Amino acid sequence: MTPETEKIYQHALEVLKENDLGSYTVPTKGLYPFQWNWDSCLTALGQGHYDENRAWTEIETLFAHQWPDGMVPHIVFHVDSDGYFPGPRVWDTRRPAADTSGITQPPVAGFAVKRLYDRATDKAAAAARARALLQRIDAWHRWFYQMRDPAGEGLVAIIHPWESGRDNSIDWDEAFERVPTEGVGDYVRRDTQHADPAHRPTKAQYDRYLYLVQLFRSLGWDNSRLHDASPFRVVDPGFNAILIRSMTDLADLADAFGDPAIAAANRERATKGLAALETLWSEPDGQYLCRDRVTGELIQSASIGGILPVFAAVPRVRAHEIARTIEGWATKVKYIVPSHDPADPRFEPKRYWRAPAWLVTNYMIQDGLRAVGETVVADHIVSSSLELITQSGFAEYYDPTTGEPCGGGRFTWTAAMVIEFLEAA
Ligand code: GLC
Repeated sequence: MTPETEKIYQHALEVLKENDLGSYTVPTKGLYPFQWNWDSCLTALGQGHYDENRAWTEIETLFAHQWPDGMVPHIVFHVDSDGYFPGPRVWDTRRPAADTSGITQPPVAGFAVKRLYDRATDKAAAAARARALLQRIDAWHRWFYQMRDPAGEGLVAIIHPWESGRDNSIDWDEAFERVPTEGVGDYVRRDTQHADPAHRPTKAQYDRYLYLVQLFRSLGWDNSRLHDASPFRVVDPGFNAILIRSMTDLADLADAFGDPAIAAANRERATKGLAALETLWSEPDGQYLCRDRVTGELIQSASIGGILPVFAAVPRVRAHEIARTIEGWATKVKYIVPSHDPADPRFEPKRYWRAPAWLVTNYMIQDGLRAVGETVVADHIVSSSLELITQSGFAEYYDPTTGEPCGGGRFTWTAAMVIEFLEAA
């Protein structure tokens, strides 16, 4: 490492440590005072480079709050805090160990656990801890197909935009129109007190987010009813690809630990999922698109959700086409990968998932591209990511046209991804 990258590395460690509450990390102090699902799994990868034991604990803490039906919730409200809305009383899921939200998030745990295990220096300890998580992760994967793919299409739907991890993506706009806002009532948002409101979702979107929470709550958070009851059901290719990658990785772990049943079940669903993903391919866009499961239509919105499938073993020709699409986007913005096609008039450079670049999605995309030999684009993504850090610090996300830092500051998973990038360099 050069003195410059050494400084960045040390800074990343500082950010990770200051957001570490012992058995879990918060995404950033203030804006997000609890444990988030995919933040934690990706953060563990960064932690694994300086404290393997701590990295396993991060994922174990999350899975200690898995629901009896198999779902792993998107937030665990370990402590009381009025810094975030909607808090536990709004969700009202009544979990015994600690309150949680009632929806899920991109299932990246299978991938993270395999990567931690593969890299572990203390193999015996890692094997014990990975083995203990194997069944839990498998139960979560099974849950997805039971509850979110009731017709057996091979792809799962999200029933709330927050499940995608890309909260206010342009992908959801049309389907979201169908979500009413009657009866939502008054509430005070907290996010806009910590971050610039112009960088955050709008009030109209927030009303709909809450309508869905209230609807699911009125159904007693019974997952066997929520999918069909939700006016919002979207099949996100990125979300499915993350699930498929995690299933493939979990299958490999299950093989290593002598559990052929888990290996076979995960492989079978992954194979079916990969085939079904092809129905979402859009030739003119050079990427995958979301499908609105209520109308059955593809959603004309070229976002990063349709780029992320390179993280799974999609056909090589697709991965290469996606690499060309990213190269095209790179001619229109200064930093890649923007979370939306810059040529789309709906592109909003500073608004959360409607254009900004995020280091976590960059990490998964470059990982997938590297695996198929697209090293030039993968390296470009990494250098763009590190330039953003040098220029703008460890922000939540960045304006891809200027590199300006947006959202919250001193962000945990941003720091974890920097450690990943620098360790691989
Ligand atoms: C936002 C992001 C989501 C993330 C969470 C915590 O809701 O959209 O992906 O998990 O913040 O960082």
